[in-house]
Amino acid sequence: MALLLTHAAQLLTLAGPDRARRGAEMAELGVVRDGAVLIEAGQILRAGPTDEVARALPAGLAGVEERDCRGHLLTPGLCDSHTHLVFAAPRLDDYERRLAGASYAELAAGGGGIRSSVARLRAAAEADLAAQASAWLREARRHGTTTIEVKSGYGLDLASERKSLRAAAQAAAAVGGDVPRTFLGAHVVPAGVERAAYVAALVDEMLPAFAAASGYAPEFADAFCDPAGFTLAECREVLLAARRHGLKLKLHAEQFAHTGGLGLGIELGAVSVDHLDAASPADAQLLARAATVATLIPGANFFLGQPYPPARMLLAAGAAVALATDFNPGTCPILSLPLVMSLACSGMRLSPAEAWTAVTINGAAALARAAVCGSLQPGKRADLALFATDDYRAVPYYAGHNLCRAVVQKGVWLDRME
Ligand code: NIG
Ligand code: FE
Repeated sequence: MALLLTHAAQLLTLAGPDRARRGAEMAELGVVRDGAVLIEAGQILRAGPTDEVARALPAGLAGVEERDCRGHLLTPGLCDSHTHLVFAAPRLDDYERRLAGASYAELAAGGGGIRSSVARLRAAAEADLAAQASAWLREARRHGTTTIEVKSGYGLDLASERKSLRAAAQAAAAVGGDVPRTFLGAHVVPAGVERAAYVAALVDEMLPAFAAASGYAPEFADAFCDPAGFTLAECREVLLAARRHGLKLKLHAEQFAHTGGLGLGIELGAVSVDHLDAASPADAQLLARAATVATLIPGANFFLGQPYPPARMLLAAGAAVALATDFNPGTCPILSLPLVMSLACSGMRLSPAEAWTAVTINGAAALARAAVCGSLQPGKRADLALFATDDYRAVPYYAGHNLCRAVVQKGVWLDRME
């Protein structure tokens, strides 16, 4: 049965080449008024004005289910390219202490921070982690997200990182959608382990085991290039090993300090470099010439009460900017990309159109999926989101509201999104 969505007040096609949009291109959304999309077998067959798409339907369709989207906005399903959603518990004590004045580093030194999430994840059962991750995937989908990356990184030993990756795979199987996995063993050095020994364990033990795993192998490797995480040299070693094992690369770079991680990510051909709070004008020039996507995380800046990354500088240089949630128990409990769009507009002066590009085709590009999803074009996977507004600007405008009413995930309409 084909699915025909008709009469959307606005259809954002994001039509264009199968790559991230950069600089001024990010303002072009391919808006169609009274738009329609024809879907069959999980793929988009046509997208455009209703009178063109619905006229003379192709022969051979085994029936057509039509849904009238009058008064609504129809967009590509949102692509969240950076989350840490496999964790055991929120860090509410850290939250309260930080609001009373403790820094992220002081919390970590005092037994909180990432290492406390590690202790709790190690103690948690895989089935419980998978059930919680499933609930978070559903929550993201209720806000329009159909592609969502999930990192490991709270296990930090072979058995616990495996448990994280397997929980992510189980949650993806239970909920559906496209849920690429990233191995973030290089998050922090775990307590009680010597740095060099841990880096060796990542390179010699975990990466080989996980890259060859069946059913839960990660597609990407990531590292936290920061004084609180790993040095530039350590990140290089881990990422080179990951690349030898066939993993694509991502990197947490220039978040709390400028370490040169952005340059390393670009040098190694990373798909994205993420955070970039401390990015310099020279970094912006590197991004302008690279295919690497600059993924910004304004939810973390908001939640930590810190200045936002220099998005306008990056865009002016011609970088390809994506937005992601970074959903995690320490620095960002936000899982709504529409709210992240609001923060990007108010905090970093993205235009609403740029914010849309950043959570659709550029989010897809940050997951090496620009040819698969992120725009509504024939041949792409039928991932869409439907919002209760007739104007795309209303989505970032209504900060904190959820206007998403349905998604289409791999061609399947999901109402109320349970
Ligand atoms: O992306 N910076 C490192 N990792 C996460 C935070 C993880 C945590 O605090 O639990 C981030 O912000
Ligand atoms: Fe992160």
